[in-house]
Amino acid sequence: MYNFLDSTEARRGKHIIWAANRSVMENIGFTRRKSGKKSRSHWDLFLRVMRIFEFLLKITGNYHKGYGNAKNIKVNELSLKYPNLPDAFNGFRILHLSDLHIDSIPGFTAMLIEKIKPLKFDICLLTGDYRRDRAGSFNHILKPLKILSKYIQAPSGVFAILGNHDTYLMAQYEKESGMELLVNESVEIIREDQKILITGTDDPFDFYTESALICLETRGYDFKIAMVHTPEMANWASANKYDLYLCGHTHGGQICLKDGFPLISHQFEGKKFNHGLWNIGKMTGYTSRGAGVSGIPIRFNCPGEITIINLINGR
Ligand SMILES: [Fe+2]
Repeated sequence: MYNFLDSTEARRGKHIIWAANRSVMENIGFTRRKSGKKSRSHWDLFLRVMRIFEFLLKITGNYHKGYGNAKNIKVNELSLKYPNLPDAFNGFRILHLSDLHIDSIPGFTAMLIEKIKPLKFDICLLTGDYRRDRAGSFNHILKPLKILSKYIQAPSGVFAILGNHDTYLMAQYEKESGMELLVNESVEIIREDQKILITGTDDPFDFYTESALICLETRGYDFKIAMVHTPEMANWASANKYDLYLCGHTHGGQICLKDGFPLISHQFEGKKFNHGLWNIGKMTGYTSRGAGVSGIPIRFNCPGEITIINLINGR
């Protein structure tokens, strides 16, 4: 069971204002970062460089290996202990999905479903990037998302945020896709009269607004989870006493050297945020390597992942 902090009317009003802002940012082709940096997107240039890299992989016979790696999604399971976790949430299992880019590889939805089917979880949290491209049509991903949604339904709900590959226009299909979209807002998850709070922001990598800061200024809960596409809001979430911060975006590098060192991570917060567990103060963060791929459909030394996080009450 869950309960949004804002009324339906208030949420609708906020979403309309957010969509108007987001549409301007998407259409002028400038990115806006938390650092205040505002610049033209370099994605097209990056893609051109990737095409050359793809060509080199093909002529050296390495492309198929990388493509096979991209289809080999790992299930990561971890347990996190918190002394302040309400008793009713002891053993609460989160399915964390990130960076599905569900249209990057033919048949990818079926591959994901095969991995998810045997898993037991109480809630599903999706931290953005549902399509391959950053612009253009997204109609072709609605059907696969709808099919996937049947397998990720959970007693405490399915909550999603947008990434930098997503458009505000997707918001109108949230119900159809079987997900509740969190746009700079919070929802209470209720179990046996006890509550935890989940806050989801809009993507701060390309579409940062102060609303992403403000929505994290929450008080009055024993346990709080932040969902943000990138690690960029982690310091602020920690300062506002969030316990768990879930993000993705980096794909763990997607193409890494043998020791796991990424050639490119698309984040500027520091090496520790590239993938896996990290801490800021008492807050634990987790950067998913993501299930899918973008740019070119390959992975090296960096498998895609879906994650089960088991919350435990303890020290
Ligand atoms: Fe992504």
